[in-house]
Amino acid sequence: MRNRLTHRAFTVMIALAAVFVATACAKPTMASQFGKKGVTFGVAVQAADVLDPKCVAVVKENFNLIVPENTMKWRNLRPTKGFWNWSDMDAMVKFAAANGMAMKGHTFVWHQQNAPYVDGLKTRDEAIALLQEQITTVMTRYKGKIREYDVANEVLNEDGTMRDTVWLRTIGDDYLDIAFKAARAADPDAKLYLNDYNNEYEGSAKGDGFYELAKALKQRNVPIDGVGFQLHVMGTAPLNADNLRSNVRRFAELGLLASFTEVDVRIPVPVTPEMEATQTEVYRQLLDIALTEPNARSFIVWGYTDKRSWIPAAFPGFGSAHLFDRAEKSKPAYEALKEMILKAPKPASPGQN
Ligand code: G3I
Repeated sequence: MRNRLTHRAFTVMIALAAVFVATACAKPTMASQFGKKGVTFGVAVQAADVLDPKCVAVVKENFNLIVPENTMKWRNLRPTKGFWNWSDMDAMVKFAAANGMAMKGHTFVWHQQNAPYVDGLKTRDEAIALLQEQITTVMTRYKGKIREYDVANEVLNEDGTMRDTVWLRTIGDDYLDIAFKAARAADPDAKLYLNDYNNEYEGSAKGDGFYELAKALKQRNVPIDGVGFQLHVMGTAPLNADNLRSNVRRFAELGLLASFTEVDVRIPVPVTPEMEATQTEVYRQLLDIALTEPNARSFIVWGYTDKRSWIPAAFPGFGSAHLFDRAEKSKPAYEALKEMILKAPKPASPGQN
């Protein structure tokens, strides 16, 4: 009996030692380093990406969160009122879970990529019912599997006023309240975000409008957890890192997380070494803020490779915005981020990741 116990204890010790050695010797990857430092490092992926072995390898090695670039948008997920196209979303959710990654949902309230029956909404009651149904159905299906959502996206004009959308026209001023409340009720554990672009600077009309909107939502007890700065930025315009940092801080004072949600840094093509160096510096400055502001420990890139990029079609003359080139080779910006995360201290208290 005693011999058997000793033998079993020995076997357990050997197994534990093997796990210890394997963990200690495992090559630190970008994903494992970000995980260790408690920082989200996410990437937007297309539905086909999670089926492409080359892409899967890069995503797994580097990122700890994925977000569907287009799959959850209304026109793709529910092209007609009675047809839900779950297969692509389900595949992504499964991929994230199988690889120990978090998943983010994007997006419910938007003025683009809506299905025709959404754009055709006429009355407040039918719009509220449809919006609540959409949010509740998706968030119930993925409860505990999708960790955070952009509940609403790009609701502001450049001057900081509310954008004229189907939701504002049909429901009225309280449409965000209704959307966030439906989201909280559907999955109380999911983090709920308000996301926008050109909203990163304090003192700009849109930046201040965005702040006032988030503040008003908080004051009315609307269940919002954080704000998203998309940060589709241009290497040709210097980043005002001090301003962005102080903007992040004023959202912390409201009790809100600040996530960098769609980062890319586009530069004129053909690329020059000088522009690539500037791009690297912008990526570096952005990650520095995410690493050092306690409410901003979330850095999500909008695609990882120039091979599949929304930039050239949207901004002719610009490109090369992502961390990997068209051949999926890492760029200096990637290497800079890697060096930064390797050197970053472990968080004193657990981050939001
Ligand atoms: O899948 C169809 C394809 O079947 C068709 O042949 C082709 C012809 O145009 O279009 C394809 O769909 C395109 C889709 O991307 C997939 O590539 C749509 O036209 C195109 O409009 C769509 O663009 C997306 C855009 O949002 C609009 O939804 C971009 O990929 C996506 O990167 C972009 O993402 C947005 C964020 O959601 C919000 N913030 C800004 C960001 C950049 O615009």
